[in-house]
Amino acid sequence: MAIDLTVDIAGIPLKNPVLTAAGPTSRDGETLAEAARGGVGGLVAKTISVKPAEVPRPNMQTLDRGKSQWLLATAMQHQIVHLERIQVRGAYGLLNHELWSDKHYQKWLDYEYPRAKETGLALIASMGYTPDELKKLAPLVQKAGVDGIEFSTHYIETDPKVFNDVAKTLKESVDIPIFAKMSPHVKDLTVFTKAVDRYVDGFVAINTLGPCLHIDIETGRPLLGGPGGVGWLSGPAIKPLAIRAVADIARGTTKPVIGVGGVSTGADAIEFFMVGASAVQVCTAAILEGQSVYGRIVTEIAEFLDSHGHTSTEDVHGIALKHLPSETLRIESLPPTVNEEACSGCGLCSKSCIYSAIAVNAKTTKAQVNSELCYGCGVCVSICPHRALSFETSG
Ligand SMILES: Cc1cc2nc3c(=O)[nH]c(=O)nc-3n(C[C@H](O)[C@H](O)[C@H](O)COP(=O)(O)O)c2cc1C
Repeated sequence: MAIDLTVDIAGIPLKNPVLTAAGPTSRDGETLAEAARGGVGGLVAKTISVKPAEVPRPNMQTLDRGKSQWLLATAMQHQIVHLERIQVRGAYGLLNHELWSDKHYQKWLDYEYPRAKETGLALIASMGYTPDELKKLAPLVQKAGVDGIEFSTHYIETDPKVFNDVAKTLKESVDIPIFAKMSPHVKDLTVFTKAVDRYVDGFVAINTLGPCLHIDIETGRPLLGGPGGVGWLSGPAIKPLAIRAVADIARGTTKPVIGVGGVSTGADAIEFFMVGASAVQVCTAAILEGQSVYGRIVTEIAEFLDSHGHTSTEDVHGIALKHLPSETLRIESLPPTVNEEACSGCGLCSKSCIYSAIAVNAKTTKAQVNSELCYGCGVCVSICPHRALSFETSG
């Protein structure tokens, strides 16, 4: 079946729904051109502001369980490629203290945006932070030929008054689409979204979470070089938060929402589409895996859609929202059913059952649930690699 991956976001045409995100992998025109070669469907550039940032070094630190000594030693004994796999695939997150662009905005206007536009892809500029700063920068950026503007709320955080002032100022300064990039620290995103909706053409969620701290136990020091050694969290660890944020925003607007936070596979992207995202951005996975990551994710999206009988992302767009109950599903225990054909008898369910309610039957070599002991918590259902355990669903 032919899959159509093109998307239109507030009038901006995208070759496919996977975009770069503001960060080191969008730090200049040349890097954005590399992302285009890697298969990205549209470009979002690193955030600029009136003054270049003074970026602390070191400013990035991976978080992964593969850093323990024995894993490193094992990897060295075998192949270096094994080590790489542990670090890239095993990272559950990244801390960063990169701030905004360390280039002067004039350099972006004269060279970086025009260079990125040479790719032929749509280009969204990112900028911050105060109304006065945006009033100055936005018209210049529009003149440089970008297709849209994303404004970062990272440093204005959760104050709706300031947020509205920023969005309103931007709306009055340019006539290209404006996207509000939301902080995960906003408490009620649906209410917040409704308040700012009239000033923007779309939303992006989420930015990084923090500040966070991580200490190297061999030295007792943080590995990041900014004040307090702190950094902001991104990558797989923040994906559930980002999914919830996109769902909350999608329920407060009919405008397009772009999901960002922990996307590293096509399955991640599909999950964002299902809660109402029209496209996704990728940052940490591109840092850890390289710029070919976009093409891989696009291929995986197409494969999923094809194998499920869909022809475009529109077919899955927002389909999960109707399943998010406003009230508790139930409070009675309902034991899961076992699909014996799918069960391999591996025993993972049994090991993770803190109620001792599931075991692999020695004769049948299949998982068996003791309904008397089962609390219906769901760990076994989520841990089974074969989807052999399930709860009955009602529609
Ligand atoms: C090193 C680094 C630098 C970033 N710089 C910016 C930035 O300049 N502006 C911005 O809005 N977000 C910035 N972000 C946040 C990302 O755009 C993205 O929202 C966040 O990392 C979550 O996506 P991910 O899990 O795919 O990394 C940065 C993230 C990282 C890791």
